[in-house]
Amino acid sequence: MNKQTIRDINVAGKRALVRVDFNVPLDAEQHITDDTRITAALPTIQYLLNAGAAVILMSHLGRPDGKVVDTLRMAPVAQRLSELLNTPVQSVNDCIGPEVEAKARALQPGQVLLLENLRFHKEEEKNNSEFAHQLASLGDIYINDAFGTAHRAHASTEGVTHYLPGVAGFLMEKEITFLGTALQHPRRPFAAIVGGAKVSDKIAVLERLIDIADMILIGGGMANTFLKAEGFEIGDSLFEESKITVARDLIAKAKQGSKQFLLPKDVVIADRFAADANHTIVSSDQVPQVWRILDIGPTTVASFREALATAQTIVQAGLSDKMTHVSTGGGASLEFLEGRILPGVAALQDKR
Ligand code: 3PG
Ligand code: MG
Repeated sequence: MNKQTIRDINVAGKRALVRVDFNVPLDAEQHITDDTRITAALPTIQYLLNAGAAVILMSHLGRPDGKVVDTLRMAPVAQRLSELLNTPVQSVNDCIGPEVEAKARALQPGQVLLLENLRFHKEEEKNNSEFAHQLASLGDIYINDAFGTAHRAHASTEGVTHYLPGVAGFLMEKEITFLGTALQHPRRPFAAIVGGAKVSDKIAVLERLIDIADMILIGGGMANTFLKAEGFEIGDSLFEESKITVARDLIAKAKQGSKQFLLPKDVVIADRFAADANHTIVSSDQVPQVWRILDIGPTTVASFREALATAQTIVQAGLSDKMTHVSTGGGASLEFLEGRILPGVAALQDKR
């Protein structure tokens, strides 16, 4: 990777402001149901602490949309992190302001402070420069280890780099290195699994992957837009009307290039979006009018499994670990991948 990392700088005695992606799934009582994203950031945090830095961590959690939402506070994350590091993790009830500044200034080498949810301020997602400046004033150096948020130009990921010298953390380095190798010299067959709610978020990624991957497996909410483009009725399912043509073009491009393009053959549907909704499994062309698609079905899981069995490189983008909340069977799509890719964090597993 041709980017500087924490190995290239001297962090002793410095306040390291570290952007991590601690956007972990929580259950209804705010218990963390998967701490992969926290454990993935440990090597960077531990390295900084051992090297004599005071570590100030910042992350978003969920989508509070610029308001304080008590159920999206970072407290459960601070507790889990403290257990994992075996060291106290200090917290504050905001991410900017005089109290936060005082705590950051008082932080000693070897100590850890976790700021409150960045998205409690609307300025974070707007990449507001004053907000970025206030965040930057908390540290002497900036470290970005939030690979899962690398596609967002927000105040804590992009804005802050205008005010502080920045380097990459180990997770970021690992992902960029893996991804670079996968895209430049993939071992074939090369499979790409793409999910997430919106086709619009992933058009560029899909266009590039269709050129280089041998098989493309589509899941998540965006699969609905593709199913619609194929002429299926999808009931009340989430989809993007304005992206149907794009979806159709992508399917045609995959066909032209003789790529395997796998859409869900069957789907888990529910009569509403709620944990206690009525749910069932139907073929993708049998979705009743007022029902909605929430996941891929077992036949699709089997077909994905079969396709992936031969893959030598697998890249995944946009599969949500949060789907496991939905008791309609959401998350089934990930189970068989366990241990082969890190849901929601690692972009890739190279099966070498
Ligand atoms: C994610 O989980 O996708 C990242 O943490 C980014 O969060 P976002 O999709 O809410 O921007
Ligand atoms: Mg996301």
